[in-house]
Amino acid sequence: MSVEKGGDRASAPRSGEAETGAGTSMVELIERKKRGGALSAEDLTWLCGEYTAGRVPDYQVSAWLMAVCWRGMGEAETLALTRGMVATGATLDWSHLPRPAVDKHSTGGVGDKTSLVLVPLLAAAGLPFVKMSGRGLGHTGGTLDKLESIPGFRVGLSPGEMRAQVERIGCALVGQSPELVPADGQLYALRDVTATVDCLPLIAASIMSKKLAGGAGAIVLDVKYGAGAFMRDAAAARELAGAMVRIGEGAGRRVRAVLSPMDEPLGKAVGNALEVREAIECLRGSGPADLWALALELGVHLLLLAGEAEDAYSARTRLTQIRDSGAAAQRFAELIAAQGGDPAVVESPQRLAQAPVVIPVTFAGGAEQQWVAVVEARTVGDAALELGAGRRTKTDPIDPSVGIRLRKKIGDRVEPGEPLAEIHARTEDEARAAERRMLEAYHLQRDLVPTPGSGYEVVGS
Ligand code: URA
Repeated sequence: MSVEKGGDRASAPRSGEAETGAGTSMVELIERKKRGGALSAEDLTWLCGEYTAGRVPDYQVSAWLMAVCWRGMGEAETLALTRGMVATGATLDWSHLPRPAVDKHSTGGVGDKTSLVLVPLLAAAGLPFVKMSGRGLGHTGGTLDKLESIPGFRVGLSPGEMRAQVERIGCALVGQSPELVPADGQLYALRDVTATVDCLPLIAASIMSKKLAGGAGAIVLDVKYGAGAFMRDAAAARELAGAMVRIGEGAGRRVRAVLSPMDEPLGKAVGNALEVREAIECLRGSGPADLWALALELGVHLLLLAGEAEDAYSARTRLTQIRDSGAAAQRFAELIAAQGGDPAVVESPQRLAQAPVVIPVTFAGGAEQQWVAVVEARTVGDAALELGAGRRTKTDPIDPSVGIRLRKKIGDRVEPGEPLAEIHARTEDEARAAERRMLEAYHLQRDLVPTPGSGYEVVGS
């Protein structure tokens, strides 16, 4: 891997009338977007560079962001914005490695621990995989918080440490490097306070700028939709997926998006140490079927995109054999050890933090068997948040031990008195509050409910 610094940026004076390389000013760029015109690649590279350098003020960028929300951006313009963002920081280059590097992004959801399964699985298949992740906020958890529930685990590796680790064991699971795409952090913070987060080209450029800077040649995007997801319906998810795939392909990467519903949590565990434990179970072949199905689907596309499998059937067979041989779990233990964690948790997950209070959630209504029709992902996420598994603000501390383990998922039969879930809490009072929430999350019915299938929609060639 080599790390390249972004190129020299234009050094215009600090003024609203600063000139872009093309001889226009920020006011003119805002005006053009306001009227529905498109900014050129040169304009957008200038805007991103000057904003990151503090030479264009927040109020002007806010006006431009709002104009983008109303007027949208074409394909070429969105790609140019993404490239302009990437140019504000360093980029990683893995071209010296013998096999193509792969990467993945998930739009996030409740109980989503797919990266913990996918990264060691693909590394065990021989594909270098550096996954940069974020922290959780609100009802969705973050991969970094999950990893930090492993005693000693360090997520803050420098580019040099990442390089050395990938050359040695083929993978790393780390925090987003601040050297990569500094424009994204600044723009995202501004979007957050100017009601401009939910704008498709801005979301697509934000996500893909980090993927492009990460340097992988093959990228799979895990785009979720539904009540517990960022994208509420399949049509919106398809549109975002298409925009991201086009950016990636426009930048010369091989990209595919996999769409999956997020109406109920993924897997059965929600909460940091509980999710690590479930990921380990999955790597050892005993995890929940939906988690393995999604990890396998994403892994198959990565093998195909990287040119490392003839077809989906052989990719699937190979990844399943790697899991069954124990090589993927072994690779996870190596990754944990390399990043300062206790690798013994893979053999003995009981070494992970455990909550002092564990109570069942039992459905009291009726003397007949019923079927689970709904498990509201959002409500489960909120219950875990209130237990202390997540954070409401960026600085809230989290408790690695607490969370929820679902015993029943959509399509499961429930006999009278059978537990629906298990609460892992710090105190009896917190456990009882979460129990009340969980009873709201579950909707049961007397008629049989089919188990959801794992048919995924794929966007990209
Ligand atoms: N995730 C990102 O990284 N950026 C966005 O704009 C939205 C979600």
